[in-house]
Amino acid sequence: MKINKSDLERIAVRPDQYPEADKAEIAFAGRSNVGKSSLLNLITCRKKLARVSGAPGKTRTINFYVINDEFRIVDLPGYGYAKVSKSVSSTWGDMVENYLQDRENLLKVIQLVDIRHAPSNQDVQMYKYLKFYGLDGVVVATKADKVSKNELYKGINVIRKTLGLSDDDIVIPISSLKKTGQEKLLSVMAELLEEYNETAKE
Ligand code: GTP
Ligand code: MG
Repeated sequence: MKINKSDLERIAVRPDQYPEADKAEIAFAGRSNVGKSSLLNLITCRKKLARVSGAPGKTRTINFYVINDEFRIVDLPGYGYAKVSKSVSSTWGDMVENYLQDRENLLKVIQLVDIRHAPSNQDVQMYKYLKFYGLDGVVVATKADKVSKNELYKGINVIRKTLGLSDDDIVIPISSLKKTGQEKLLSVMAELLEEYNETAKE
């Protein structure tokens, strides 16, 4: 799959602000600063489609992007950002949970984890949650440029073990900085969309 068109369609914090559920959606979830917005920019070949920052907590809303006029990528706000107050973090929970629980056109949530660190408790929790809703199965290991080849394999194993992945689940190492690994993710996304369109026809 090649992405040749991408536009920010909607910024939402509540369900009544979501766009119509007329297109399949694939969401990006993960700790704040893990590289969700950078990954979106990488696969769309747009430097500034989503805002990226060295300071965690950049994306604080649910951002819907229309891709190739066909489906959406949904950039979710990151969790685990220590500086937000309790009330802000409970709003985060409500915001993301509402979206994950009730979105009928949500096809898959791609969970991002940093290749350099073992997944945090919150990552594990998030993945369990995705499993519960049947949205699990694809994990991206970000910032692959920061480790050696050897560390990369070790990192993937740690991610597999800690998140409790099954053999069918996939982990895709990607570097948004060096622009590596994205083809695999794009082909996985294309397959998912194909399946979705097939079942929609039935
Ligand atoms: P929130 O919006 O806070 O949830 O963060 P995010 O997950 O969207 O992360 P973002 O894409 O804003 O990236 C956070 C920081 O990590 C930025 O400084 C990026 O430049 C950096 N970064 C992201 N991807 C990579 C990567 O593949 N390699 C390296 N070296 N840095 C990366
Ligand atoms: Mg972001």
